[in-house]
Amino acid sequence: MRTHYCGTITSELTGEQVELTGWVHRRRDHGGVIFLDVRDRTGIVQVVYDPDTEGPFATAESVRNEFVLHVKGKVRPRPEGTVNPDMTTGEVEVLGLELEILNAAATPPFQLDEHSEAGEDVRLRYRYLDLRRPEMQQRLQTRARITSIVRSYLEEQGYWEVETPTLSRTTPEGARDYLVPSRTHPGQFFALPQSPQIYKQLLMMSGFDKYYQIARCYRDEDLRHDRQPEFTQVDIEASFVTANDIMSLTEGMLKSLFVEVLGVELGEFPIIAWDDAMRDYGSDRPDLRNPLKLVDIADLMREVEFKVFNGPANDDKSRVVALRAPGGAKLSRKVIDDYTGFVARYGAKGLAYIKVNELASGVAGLQSPIIKFLPEDVVLKVLERVGAEDGDVVFFGADRKGIVNDAIGALRNELGRELGLTRDGWAPCWVVDWPMFSETKDGGLAAEHHPFTKPVGSPEALLENPLAAKADAYDVVLNGYELGGGSLRVHDERMQSAIFEAMKMGAEAQTKFGFLLDALKFGAPPHGGIALGMDRLVMLMTGTQAIRDVIAFPKTQSAADLMMAAPSEVDEQQLRELNLRVRREEKKEES
Ligand code: AMO
Ligand code: AMP
Repeated sequence: MRTHYCGTITSELTGEQVELTGWVHRRRDHGGVIFLDVRDRTGIVQVVYDPDTEGPFATAESVRNEFVLHVKGKVRPRPEGTVNPDMTTGEVEVLGLELEILNAAATPPFQLDEHSEAGEDVRLRYRYLDLRRPEMQQRLQTRARITSIVRSYLEEQGYWEVETPTLSRTTPEGARDYLVPSRTHPGQFFALPQSPQIYKQLLMMSGFDKYYQIARCYRDEDLRHDRQPEFTQVDIEASFVTANDIMSLTEGMLKSLFVEVLGVELGEFPIIAWDDAMRDYGSDRPDLRNPLKLVDIADLMREVEFKVFNGPANDDKSRVVALRAPGGAKLSRKVIDDYTGFVARYGAKGLAYIKVNELASGVAGLQSPIIKFLPEDVVLKVLERVGAEDGDVVFFGADRKGIVNDAIGALRNELGRELGLTRDGWAPCWVVDWPMFSETKDGGLAAEHHPFTKPVGSPEALLENPLAAKADAYDVVLNGYELGGGSLRVHDERMQSAIFEAMKMGAEAQTKFGFLLDALKFGAPPHGGIALGMDRLVMLMTGTQAIRDVIAFPKTQSAADLMMAAPSEVDEQQLRELNLRVRREEKKEES
């Protein structure tokens, strides 16, 4: 139907007859001449109809936004003064000679070029219209390119793509499962996979050696701007590898993606031990573009009378830290109060601070609600340790480690942004030497990654002191986002059983993972792998803030699809076939 795409009409085609198809982006009536901006996935071109071409002119008068057109015309330069340097097609226009309306369109619920004023609900309800916007199409095009480059890269390295089931059973990645009732097995349910973790390990045991999959994963967890209930992983596993092999493979893949898609050289990825990341940044996914660091000062606070500090300073499950913000002395009382509210969201009970007005005058040059509680030499030692200078503010956090890390780590991000300290650009890194387990609220153990991660050391050592065990795990972090996580895996049945035992999974392990324990007995090779969050990667590479912007049909914050109206109720017949009954009465009472 067409000779060219709209976005490809440039001055090289001047004088040529072209045939275009597309949507009316905008229609303007200028004193008897009608301008139609016609849009397809490649861009927009201006088509002009003048009254001399009678029939087509009348048709052009009748079209409205989003009508679908078939245009024939001749490319000509735009008159002087009307060239638009912001458009690839901005030097030319098409003089319309024929015009066919392929389809009319009702008035759209929002103007595509004024989408930001339309609420997100409307945009998601009419997602097919929202997706007509050039920026949405460009993001999804970039996503397609990224997927294609990833595939070629891994295939060149000898990886085979293998599809694994999505009707499966529970996979322990730590989130809630999405369940699917079975008709043929009344009362039983499939779980949608939270990741292909176990399948890919079984493929290694089958001798596939190098596997990858662009895999859909499902997790029923609280949603955030970088989380969706269904998302995509670049999932990788290989046999007879070291952690280093998987890290270099991943690094090489990310580097070539950034060069090919963005023309950016990422450089070396620094490797940071988990303990150091927590110490310096309070986070296992530090944004290294931000120069601020947490500084431990517990040793200076053990003897002071100020209870807020000396309590945590004398407790090995707690931390006392200082965070110097250069240039922060200018922050108003109100702004500091807001930060106090901000850290409270992470459980911090307060936010002590010292403003450094004039260091040369000693304590007299400081401004702070806490210096009256602290000996002068301690205050000066703290300021020296953090390298404070005139014009700075130093914030303090004192509490259980988890609270200080979360609160002051988040404050670090906030201050870096607000004070303009976080630079632009890209800062990837690896975080390694993870603890195998963390303690749950009820005193149990949870795997930091998943229970198939290989601990360093023997099964006996693991059972002896599980909280001290480190794991051969590595996360790749970019600009403060956890982009991917992986590890070497347990390939020894004794070690796998020890992990389940440490987690007090006993009989449950046998029912849930008996098949894996069996598989480990039949010659499992050493293996390891990683999974990258594809949506997060595309989000970062396209410079958008929300993962929803790089998924064609995403779910809302409450995990619903507004366009399809999913989830939805199903009819009685379907429920009966599935042997299910919905407890409607209770549902009503609850709401
Ligand atoms: P993990 O749970 O760390 O590891 O997941 C890997 C990566 O997937 C992305 N991700 C998500 N992206 C969007 N929405 C979500 N809800 C979501 N959850 C996770 C993140 C994360 O880094 N089986 C292991 C991998 C392995 O060990 O090989 C796993 O799934 O970017
Ligand atoms: P208070 O003695 O509770 O009035 O606190 C004195 C100062 O210490 C105030 O500026 C509080 O914001 C701050 N503060 C209180 N608890 C903490 C804490 N856990 N960590 C850091 N600062 C705190």
